[in-house]
Amino acid sequence: MRWIVVAALVAACGRAAPATEAAPAPAIASPAADAATSYAGRPIAPTMSYLGAGWLDRDDRIERERPDDVVAALRLKPGMVVADIGAGSGYFSVRLARAVGPSGVVIATDVQPEMLALITKRMATTGLANIEPRLVKPDDAGLAPGSIDLALLVDVYHELADPAAILRGVRAALKPGGRLVLVEYRAEDPDVPIKPEHTMTLAQIRAELGPLGFRELEDLEFLPDQRIVIFTPAP
Ligand SMILES: C[S@@+](CC[C@H](N)C(=O)[O-])C[C@H]1O[C@@H](n2cnc3c(N)ncnc32)[C@H](O)[C@@H]1O
Repeated sequence: MRWIVVAALVAACGRAAPATEAAPAPAIASPAADAATSYAGRPIAPTMSYLGAGWLDRDDRIERERPDDVVAALRLKPGMVVADIGAGSGYFSVRLARAVGPSGVVIATDVQPEMLALITKRMATTGLANIEPRLVKPDDAGLAPGSIDLALLVDVYHELADPAAILRGVRAALKPGGRLVLVEYRAEDPDVPIKPEHTMTLAQIRAELGPLGFRELEDLEFLPDQRIVIFTPAP
């Protein structure tokens, strides 16, 4: 089963590539890819190309990543404004949009216009009008100060070309009491079926987020492969 998952990842986006596997699919299409190669002593993962976007909608994601449980754990309220940073094909954006309801808004950012086109298509098929796709730059979160209640980064933080710049923007964009949520694959678990540069330890996350001005509120460990770490701006 594990092997099937690994093979699917390789085929779709060139992620988990065992030495014996065929050449991975195209890795990138973002200007972010050429920027920095490391941050705080860890390699920055290459930006996942829109060419592998199908992988984001794979069937087993429901079972392994339990997106509805992840969104439920955020305890969103109707009317909230949520930024889905690095929204990809909008897999989480639509779930967030349902959680905040028609009076709320999901700002779905990405550096690849092709991903935003997929989100627009998804809005049409789901009938959800409260998602705002937004093209951003790799070093600019593209969010107005004091404009959001929560920022969610699912499988994104480890591939930010300039984490400090993005989190500076997020920190300024959060309303008082706002939250920043990272969902990352566990580097501590050798069975997590993804390349090491797409994983992070809890210690790494804590060591990076503290100096960037965030205080940890909660670490949720109920998913098989990933953890959810929730922060708020430190005073
Ligand atoms: C692995 S995908 C995850 C997509 C989505 N969060 C999900 O879980 O389905 C990472 C996404 O982050 C985007 N990305 C990378 N750097 C970014 C940045 N600085 N700002 C916004 N999006 C970014 C990529 O273009 C890609 O669509």
